[in-house]
Amino acid sequence: MILIIHAHPYPQHSRAGRALLEAVRDLPDLEVRSLYDLYPDFDIDVAAEQAALVRADLVVWLHPIYWYSVPAMLKHWFDVVHLRDWAYGEGGDKLRGKHCLWVTTSGGETSSFSETGVHQLPFAAFEAPLRQTALFCGMVWETPIVLHGAHVITEDEIGAAALAFRERLATWRPTPLASSEANPEARRC
Ligand SMILES: Cc1cc2nc3c(=O)[nH]c(=O)nc-3n(C[C@H](O)[C@H](O)[C@H](O)COP(=O)(O)O)c2cc1C
Repeated sequence: MILIIHAHPYPQHSRAGRALLEAVRDLPDLEVRSLYDLYPDFDIDVAAEQAALVRADLVVWLHPIYWYSVPAMLKHWFDVVHLRDWAYGEGGDKLRGKHCLWVTTSGGETSSFSETGVHQLPFAAFEAPLRQTALFCGMVWETPIVLHGAHVITEDEIGAAALAFRERLATWRPTPLASSEANPEARRC
């Protein structure tokens, strides 16, 4: 089962993220949890979120980049759902071996994420905390999908990215642990 954790505070104004989500919504064995719709007051149903995660083989985090990170709701979701002794720590193995795919959109164009660009760092620098969040919980980090320049790319470019995302999910099969192997130390924390 594929679980999409979707966090966009203004879905009605979303162009890039919405196209990505709509491209995959009808795939079989896929559940979408749009956190801002489910929890307008930020009062996350932890048991329901954990149950959805337990059902999933692949967890997709889909959101726009906000201040080099995730929107507040997704950060809150990590804080209250990825609990000690559930996601990590003693016996905390509920996410272990599940795959994680990060799908994000940014306002900054590809060239802006470089030493000489306005964001001064390669985009990989901002991937690191997300990747480590997954690895710390024993998940397998898949190659992310990042759509840069979300405000300037054409409808055709967004359409192509959406189609590629659909293809990626439609053909997704778990692969054996490889270079991004889950961190075996995580459970000892
Ligand atoms: C509060 C806020 C913070 C943002 N921070 C960043 C940022 O740090 N880097 C960046 O490239 N874009 C940033 N953006 C732009 C969003 O990433 C962009 O609007 C979004 O990816 C577009 O996708 P959408 O069409 O699905 O809304 C920010 C936008 C907002 C509203």
